[in-house]
Amino acid sequence: MLILGIESSCDESAVALVRNGKEVVASLVASQIELHAPYGGVVPEVACRAHMEWLLPLLTELLAQHALKLQDIDVIATTARPGLMSSLLVGLSTGKALAWALQKPFIGVDHIQGHLYAPVMAHPKLPFPHIALVVSGGHSELCLCTSPIEQERIVATLDDAAGECFDKVSALLGLGYPGGPAIEKAALKGDPKAIHFPRSRNRHGALQMSFSGLKTAVLYYLQRSGYAIQAGRPRLAQKKSGHNTQATRELSEQARADIAASFQEAALDILVRAALQACVEKNIADLSLTGGVACNSRLRQKLEEEASKKGISLYPAPRELCTDNAAFIAGLAYEYARLKRYDTLELTAQPRR
Ligand code: KG4
Ligand code: ZN
Repeated sequence: MLILGIESSCDESAVALVRNGKEVVASLVASQIELHAPYGGVVPEVACRAHMEWLLPLLTELLAQHALKLQDIDVIATTARPGLMSSLLVGLSTGKALAWALQKPFIGVDHIQGHLYAPVMAHPKLPFPHIALVVSGGHSELCLCTSPIEQERIVATLDDAAGECFDKVSALLGLGYPGGPAIEKAALKGDPKAIHFPRSRNRHGALQMSFSGLKTAVLYYLQRSGYAIQAGRPRLAQKKSGHNTQATRELSEQARADIAASFQEAALDILVRAALQACVEKNIADLSLTGGVACNSRLRQKLEEEASKKGISLYPAPRELCTDNAAFIAGLAYEYARLKRYDTLELTAQPRR
């Protein structure tokens, strides 16, 4: 069964063809990073317009590369939730129009469930149930996955998503957008022990994930140390600091690298600790890792090391399936298609889950 996936929930315009849920026949991702970088984050109207311009040419290119025709597609699948409303609507309308014109079944897919499916596509031996850590720009949560289409959320971040925290700290350090890869690169030359940033934890030891305290700790460190803050200063901090902030020093390359490395280590400690605690509490020894932040090499390494100490097997999604793409959308749709769980063309976009 050949499924066309369309993804447009945020700032990647993507199309993919996947056979029987696992074989990625073709996948194209057009990143909008350059369009949004000058603003330091995703601008919804800019994202929506780019999806409108790019999706159909991407589809034409995808089919042409593999000498396929629209009629070769068996099912059309599109991200329907969650995401930016206007961006979701572009992909969803495209998918529904194609399904109607071609008289093919249509499936609207949950983007987070798509992320959760990426490790399943890559690791045929990943058992169910397993625990999944999904860490992206919009979501950070731990789930108990009982089947490819059924999962229960164990815990979600209390505030910022992990990727969002990387993006905001990167803006503070003047490292640009998206922040994750920029922080990871800067951290390579830094000392992760240079500054001790707090790893938020629940007073009673309950499972918890939170990143906004860490972001604020970086901001306060910069202010206390008298560094010029580059960009993205949160309003709250602006009010508090008022005119007392003496931004006298520019960040040296080494200071920036040390802050990046120390921040990264703290953020990853929060994720690793929560993931392992979830496995222990649920008594499950199989852990998958997915979402944009899962591209981070230090996270993959730390989680692998700490998991193996506890006899837990780690199944990370391959990097090309970690950040947003349409292959995991088409892959997951297969699990619905084989149960004949199709959607009607009445389905509409939902910005939240
Ligand atoms: O999954 P994704 O492509 O989009 C969402 O669904 O949000 O994730 C994007 C997020 C961004 O916040 C980006 O900074 C982060 O993933 N990210 C990383 C790395 N690569 C991407 N975070 C840390 N380290 C990385 N290497
Ligand atoms: Zn995503």
